[in-house]
Amino acid sequence: MARDESLKGKTVLVTGATGGLGQAVVKRFIGSGAVVAAVYRDDAGFRRLLDFVGEAEGSLSGFKADVTSEPEVRTMVDGVLARYGRVDALLNLVGAFRGGPDIAGTAEDDWDFLMRTNLKSAFLCSRAVLPAMMKAGSGRIINVAARPAVEKKGRAKAGAYAVSKAGVVLLTETIAEEFRRSGITAHCIAPGTIDTPENRAAIPDADFSKWTDAADIAEVLLFLVSDASAVTSGAVIPVYGKS
Ligand SMILES: NC(=O)c1ccc[n+]([C@@H]2O[C@H](COP(=O)([O-])OP(=O)(O)OC[C@H]3O[C@@H](n4cnc5c(N)ncnc54)[C@H](OP(=O)(O)O)[C@@H]3O)[C@@H](O)[C@H]2O)c1
Repeated sequence: MARDESLKGKTVLVTGATGGLGQAVVKRFIGSGAVVAAVYRDDAGFRRLLDFVGEAEGSLSGFKADVTSEPEVRTMVDGVLARYGRVDALLNLVGAFRGGPDIAGTAEDDWDFLMRTNLKSAFLCSRAVLPAMMKAGSGRIINVAARPAVEKKGRAKAGAYAVSKAGVVLLTETIAEEFRRSGITAHCIAPGTIDTPENRAAIPDADFSKWTDAADIAEVLLFLVSDASAVTSGAVIPVYGKS
């Protein structure tokens, strides 16, 4: 694992920490000296994360929450602040994909699920950490959009997903505008297909070499959270790899 001390002393709150991207991000951030508060839903998922990260030794703690639930998000952020006294960065990695039908065939349940999971989650978590970041006079909020949020290609038959992720872009840009003078920056990344075990199982015939490695995305996130990115805010950064 790559190691440095670029995030030494920083507390980073990561949602979706047990996912394909989340695990790689948590591991890399701990390797950079950060303390990571990892949000998870089920105990088995958190145990898998601990196994994946390996020698975390106090740099990683878990906070259980459904991030689409306002009271659970509030309790989770209160818990993180009570434990660490600060949130230097929030990485909203939670997200989900549902596609297949065109808009005419899109089920209301799928629409609501994607808006809740992809967009409302980022709103609730961002809103919950902003007061502490404002008090601190600094902070980083990083969201995860997706390629169809910024490119027309890929929207057909994934309309609800694309709309929810386009909402993530606008949420990010709005936070960047509103808090530009408060020392708080906001960015989002737009991945194409990430090379995760789940994607390999779902699309076994694909050319995996074109997909983006989760560990490489973690490097981009590391820069966005680091002091080196202080002068920029509101970016939508494509992380498409070779695809
Ligand atoms: N994978 C891709 O190719 C791809 C492409 C473009 C964009 N993205 C975006 O990249 C991000 C990470 O993707 P991924 O591949 O790592 O996804 P993933 O493996 O499916 O992980 C999703 C994570 O979100 C958590 N989660 C989902 N709903 C939640 C909720 N209501 N409350 C709390 N946690 C919840 C999951 O927890 P559980 O373990 O409990 O389910 C899991 O940790 C997502 O925003 C996704 O939309 C992914």
